[in-house]
Amino acid sequence: MFIVANWKAYVESLAEAKKLAELAKRLAAKTRVSLVIAPPAPLLAFLAARNRSSIGFAAQDVSAETGGAETGEVLAQISASAGATYAIIGHSERRARGESDEVVARKLAHALAQGLIPILCVGEHERDAEGGYLTFVREQVSSALEPLEPKERSRVILAYEPVWAIGKTSADAIVPADLGEMVLYLRKLLAELLPGKSSARSQVLYGGSVEPSDIRALAGGTQVDGFLVGHASVEPSTFAALVKAVA
Ligand code: 13P
Repeated sequence: MFIVANWKAYVESLAEAKKLAELAKRLAAKTRVSLVIAPPAPLLAFLAARNRSSIGFAAQDVSAETGGAETGEVLAQISASAGATYAIIGHSERRARGESDEVVARKLAHALAQGLIPILCVGEHERDAEGGYLTFVREQVSSALEPLEPKERSRVILAYEPVWAIGKTSADAIVPADLGEMVLYLRKLLAELLPGKSSARSQVLYGGSVEPSDIRALAGGTQVDGFLVGHASVEPSTFAALVKAVA
């Protein structure tokens, strides 16, 4: 199992970040769950330099630009040289600020060109009885992957992040049967878009809210390869319980 801790902007100091990274390191050693931390960009280099041998690091986003006179942009190559192995791309919280599918596709290409493994976030805002949400997710996946070379497509990790299930508690969480169905649907899409049988090795993560009380049910029987966890990943006891539950 694979758990990516998306700290978003919840972690506000280096002191707090250091403590959470220490915890992740201990959990990784104890449980052998593969842990990846996505810290706020300015903290990445410091944390990665000290902890990279036991946990992985991800950028929370990459710039759609290529560099130069672009004040404030964090390029894919900067995150790669700071120690990131992965990059979250197209998170719904970025898309909510106007990031289009076309921008997502550009970011994906930059991340791949710099050797980062993209974690491409897709997911509907709401579910409708007619299955329109499946078409919505299909379009997000194909608009991001189709511009890429077939070999590059195989490097992308998909994170299914239904917007309606982000920032929620287990009372409003997705049920395992619905997650299992979506994971199957995404694997079918990947099989159509990736060369040969390479989609068999693709990873699909779940990125809606999870809690220690429901993560086991969501992990078992849904064919999901791991989780992209938000708020629960910055609460030490909850994060430890999540990792132990899937271990
Ligand atoms: P929460 O776990 O806070 O619901 O966020 C999920 C998410 O957006 C992960 O990227």
